[in-house]
Amino acid sequence: MKKILLTGGTGFLGNYLVHNLVEQGHEVYILVRKQSHKKAMKKFEDLNITIILGDLENLDLIDDDKIAKKMIDDIDIIVHCAAFYDLCADYKTSFLANVVGTQNVLHFSSTCKKLKELHYISTIAVAGDYEGEFLETDLYKDQIFSNNYARTKYDAEKLFRNTNIETVNKIIYRPGIIIGDSQTGKIDHVNGPYYLLELIAKVRSIKVLGFLPIPLGKDVSFPIIPVDHAAKFIVDIINKKNTEDKTYHVISTHVPTLEEFIEVALKSCSVYAKILRTPNIFILRQLIKFLGVPPELIDYGFSKTSFSLTHAISDSDSLKKSDSSEYLLRVLQAYFSRVKQ
Ligand SMILES: NC(=O)c1ccc[n+]([C@@H]2O[C@H](COP(=O)([O-])OP(=O)(O)OC[C@H]3O[C@@H](n4cnc5c(N)ncnc54)[C@H](OP(=O)(O)O)[C@@H]3O)[C@@H](O)[C@H]2O)c1
Repeated sequence: MKKILLTGGTGFLGNYLVHNLVEQGHEVYILVRKQSHKKAMKKFEDLNITIILGDLENLDLIDDDKIAKKMIDDIDIIVHCAAFYDLCADYKTSFLANVVGTQNVLHFSSTCKKLKELHYISTIAVAGDYEGEFLETDLYKDQIFSNNYARTKYDAEKLFRNTNIETVNKIIYRPGIIIGDSQTGKIDHVNGPYYLLELIAKVRSIKVLGFLPIPLGKDVSFPIIPVDHAAKFIVDIINKKNTEDKTYHVISTHVPTLEEFIEVALKSCSVYAKILRTPNIFILRQLIKFLGVPPELIDYGFSKTSFSLTHAISDSDSLKKSDSSEYLLRVLQAYFSRVKQ
């Protein structure tokens, strides 16, 4: 049993991490902003965890000095999962939460007396527009970013990698696009590919669409992972006896292309439409924006990046069992059965 302080516990992935860590017998403390205190109490009312008030954007991190001192004296592991995840966010908001927030977690960690491991949730978005296979050991590849979320998560990972805290192992996870629970399809809020699914949900009453023009490249891999699979993988690594400084890509071992993903989405709400791949042209970007899908997403439809899973597969069995052909239809059907037309 370890004493673990987690940031981002009220979020989509964090919620699963909290439940998994408690199930594994760990003593869990979650850092929660004042404005999210009620939400956290409700979310975790049946769990034996401790809520600690604080904010990533404050250098002190934890509001109450006495509680901060107790954490500094006692904590074995910190898991930094919190971030501002919004592809359309402005630079300042993204920078404060993602870069300054990570800097503050690193500073706090450096004061902890028993800390052995610092786990940081990054993202595959740090690869930017890199073309080719991005390795878990890669980071600086002259890549360009199409949104402030990806840029600031890159800067945060760079900061995390370059900060050494004596006797503390640093482990980095780069999840792919996190989709709903593999069994129930449940999601927390609309983000990433769910904007596209929302659009399909709106037009699904027209059962025969004929052609669906979408700005999309050919054979673009869609690196997804259900939220429960991502959390299980991360907790597997946290539970390992001997951790070492390492980076893991957290993606299902068998993923669809983006075109296949959209085809399964259409099938799961019984819409007949043939996807018509179009170039990334201005007029379609505007149309997509008008229909409620952030244009920032479109660049991912032309991605030429693939992600190696060498570390992830050698250190845990759980991703080997994560195969999109097993869960995707179920996840999408569950999504469409829940959303209104
Ligand atoms: N979702 C994905 O597809 C995806 C893919 C790859 C990587 N990731 C990474 O996975 C992690 C979790 O993502 P998610 O989808 O679970 O995000 P999320 O649902 O938006 O949750 C974000 C969490 O961060 C907390 N937070 C934000 N700003 C904070 C601050 N200033 N102080 C304290 N807490 C703060 C939020 O607290 P409140 O409840 O107070 O808002 C919430 O608990 C992030 O690091 C993200 O970059 C996500």
